[in-house]
Amino acid sequence: MGKKHLSGQKALVTGANSGIGATVAKELAKAGAAVAVNYVVNPEEAQRVVGEIKESGGEAMALRADVSNEDHVQMMFREMFTRFGTIDILINNAGIQRDAPFAEMSLDYWNTVISVNLTGQFLCAREAVKEFLRRGVVPDVSCAAGKIICMSSVHEVIPWTNHANYAASKGGVMMLMKSMAQELAPRRIRVNSICPGAIKTPINVSARSTPEAEKALLKFIPYGRIGETDDIGRVAVWLASDDADYITGASLFVDGGMTLYPGFSTGG
Ligand code: BGC
Repeated sequence: MGKKHLSGQKALVTGANSGIGATVAKELAKAGAAVAVNYVVNPEEAQRVVGEIKESGGEAMALRADVSNEDHVQMMFREMFTRFGTIDILINNAGIQRDAPFAEMSLDYWNTVISVNLTGQFLCAREAVKEFLRRGVVPDVSCAAGKIICMSSVHEVIPWTNHANYAASKGGVMMLMKSMAQELAPRRIRVNSICPGAIKTPINVSARSTPEAEKALLKFIPYGRIGETDDIGRVAVWLASDDADYITGASLFVDGGMTLYPGFSTGG
């Protein structure tokens, strides 16, 4: 893959101030895209990501918006268009967990997770798609009129005790992604998901903070290591690039084999 594979392209990465989003933003910039780094809290983290991109010669800006808020999202896209002119790549990454046993799960926990993880992806995708449809394909930039990558999870297919809201949100992302992909393929808009397994980010610190917890987590990963955010960043660049031009509607599992029913390696 050429070093500047995405040059001339404009990308927006939601939740890009930490974890997977921050790495994806930096990788897209390394590949030549101008990147809008969305955040909702911790502006200094977003500025750090922007700073790192600029220091390595890339183009970036930070944009504050709560992706679950329609007005915020529309304002963010307006700002993006004012500054960057258009959008070619949307990485629908922002996501949260609010975990609780099912009988104790508050409506607030349910709504918060669904609003950010699912409604947030809908709201951002809708604004991006309007612009993709308006602008169409620019052959010098990309074969596609636009690319959306939804950050899903292995939990779009793996049920998860004490995380019903999170698993439901990711199951929803899967059908949102596939329905968009089906509807928008004739317009040359590609929509895909990356489904990370356990990646070292702030979201799962407690699941790997002690040696015992880490050992228990590794039992679920046949490949024998916890993922790094770079594992996802590299895949995102490729999936957004024209090298992946014939891929749409796919859930790409990047999980060290977590979805391979590792329990069956010794039983069944
Ligand atoms: C969750 C992490 C978890 C991983 C594997 C992700 O979607 O956010 O907390 O470690 O799935 O279970």
